[in-house]
Amino acid sequence: MTITGIDPPAVEVSGLTRVFSGGRGKADHRALDAFDLTVTPGEVHGLLGPNGAGKTTLCKILSTVLLPTSGTARVLGLDVVADAKRVRPLLGIVFGGERGLYARMTAGQNLRFWAALYGLGRRAGRARAAELLDRVGLSARADNRVETFSRGMKQRLHLARGMIGDPRVLILDEPTVGMDPVSAHEFRELVEELRAEGRAVLLTTHDMAEAEALCDRVSFIDGGRLLRCEDPRVLGELLSRHERVRATGVPEALADRIAELRGVEAVRRTGPGAILVETDRDGAALPVLRMLVEAGTTDVSTAPPTLEEVYMHLIGDRGMAVRS
Ligand SMILES: Nc1ncnc2c1ncn2[C@@H]1O[C@H](COP(=O)(O)OP(=O)(O)OP(=O)(O)O)[C@@H](O)[C@H]1O
Ligand SMILES: [Mg+2]
Repeated sequence: MTITGIDPPAVEVSGLTRVFSGGRGKADHRALDAFDLTVTPGEVHGLLGPNGAGKTTLCKILSTVLLPTSGTARVLGLDVVADAKRVRPLLGIVFGGERGLYARMTAGQNLRFWAALYGLGRRAGRARAAELLDRVGLSARADNRVETFSRGMKQRLHLARGMIGDPRVLILDEPTVGMDPVSAHEFRELVEELRAEGRAVLLTTHDMAEAEALCDRVSFIDGGRLLRCEDPRVLGELLSRHERVRATGVPEALADRIAELRGVEAVRRTGPGAILVETDRDGAALPVLRMLVEAGTTDVSTAPPTLEEVYMHLIGDRGMAVRS
């Protein structure tokens, strides 16, 4: 659909706000707060944020199942409130979990049922269901009831369901929850294909490695607000820059020496003799490890920072930036 000769964005959200009333005596809750987002056709856009950040609320508004309090949200130029009926066929929606699947029906029956809902005739519906089951690697289980499926298999079926209507825009809310690493890898390939076909994907996830691998851009959301919209490479840099080292059996004097090392941001005491070292410089974990090992510490491990920690650094970075 073109009005000015330029294709509209796949998703365009502007000043989107959703307030949930708190009920008797309780304060209202602002789940989304003047949120802005643009996803272009053929883009895989990641939405990252801690629990309660507002990700699912945004996905629900875009899916036309929840009304915004204020602001606008458009899908391929159509307003999700005023044009909800025209928006729905353009969308493929995948919310994880058990909802929306008929447990007593087989995978094939589920898909054929939805194909019928999308207006496909019997034969076309069969063909589409078979094609999609193949695409998500469930052909061999087509005739098994969904109640016998593992979580990851249900998640694959959700994906197939989301694609029934051949949508231009896919909204995937934590689509890889419950998938094993192999399935998650296959899922990534599937998303690559969807992108190559020119579809837009909005993907919420808690998995920073997944976001880094898959997304063209990543939006960070917290408290209903957009923190930053970034190139996913920034994630990789943050992950390595803020690596952490855990160790036990560390004497106090050694912990003090580690705190003096370059790039060590903090040494937290997490128990008697136990420390957690946070770094804020690429490669800073190495000298920490060396010092611990040389002192005879055997229980040492490294880990990437958590999403919450990455956020804190993002907010910190933003706080230092000069706004124009
Ligand atoms: N129907 C509702 N009524 C009241 N509050 C709600 C409702 N739905 C969501 N909220 C609140 O809105 C905020 C955002 O919730 P949302 O489900 O969008 O978070 P999320 O980013 O998807 O989190 P998660 O990572 O846990 O899935 C939360 O504080 C939540 O409690
Ligand atoms: Mg959610």
